[in-house]
Amino acid sequence: MSDIPVIAIDGPSGSGKGTIAEMVANRLGFILLDSGALYRILGIAAHKANLELDNHNQVANLARTLEIEFCNAGTGTVLLNGEDVSKDIRTELGSSLASQVGSIPAAREALYERQLRFRKSPGLVADGRDMGTVIFPDATLKIFLTAVVSERAQRRYKQLIDKGIDATLPDLLRDLNERDRRDTERPVSPLKPAEDAVILDSTELSIEEVVEQILKLFAAESS
Ligand code: C5P
Repeated sequence: MSDIPVIAIDGPSGSGKGTIAEMVANRLGFILLDSGALYRILGIAAHKANLELDNHNQVANLARTLEIEFCNAGTGTVLLNGEDVSKDIRTELGSSLASQVGSIPAAREALYERQLRFRKSPGLVADGRDMGTVIFPDATLKIFLTAVVSERAQRRYKQLIDKGIDATLPDLLRDLNERDRRDTERPVSPLKPAEDAVILDSTELSIEEVVEQILKLFAAESS
């Protein structure tokens, strides 16, 4: 067991986890693990390599050999084997591929150690689906962040349009429902709150309010 603090933030797509995890990490000067990006990168890499996603061994082998680099924290630039895939991984195809490779047990196992390596001093904020349940079960603070699906679809729509990526609300709502279903129903590392997680519903809260609540809870845990 490590005594380096971890704040695990899990929850469904569009709950605001990504933005909130980054803000909490910045405020505390902690390292950030965007575990969804790892699944997105693996999905895109498998797609580029024309792998059949049914071939679990091949996908897991690929997961072990990927060279991934997160550049200049905050800019969101991600390199896959030296190639900038930052935009590709954020498309709806990237989301769908991530959720498909995420349901492969061998691929999750292959990404396990890689995620543990992010736990470095002075601390880590880890964002995902199974951070508090599987990857960092001894996390100092576990947050399960939710919001109603219509609000999550709205947020995702705005995010994509702001980035100049085409999207429609009905398509996003359908994709979110489908991803929620796949993430919650898969047998391995399903999306669910850890028993000791604090459940925060962000539907009616601003990003800043959620960040403040998490910082307060963390301060209380650490004192
Ligand atoms: O968090 P984000 O939306 O980027 O994650 C994309 C997909 O990757 C999720 O829908 C989920 O299927 C998968 N994922 C996962 N486990 C994680 C993080 C993401 O299975 N820890």
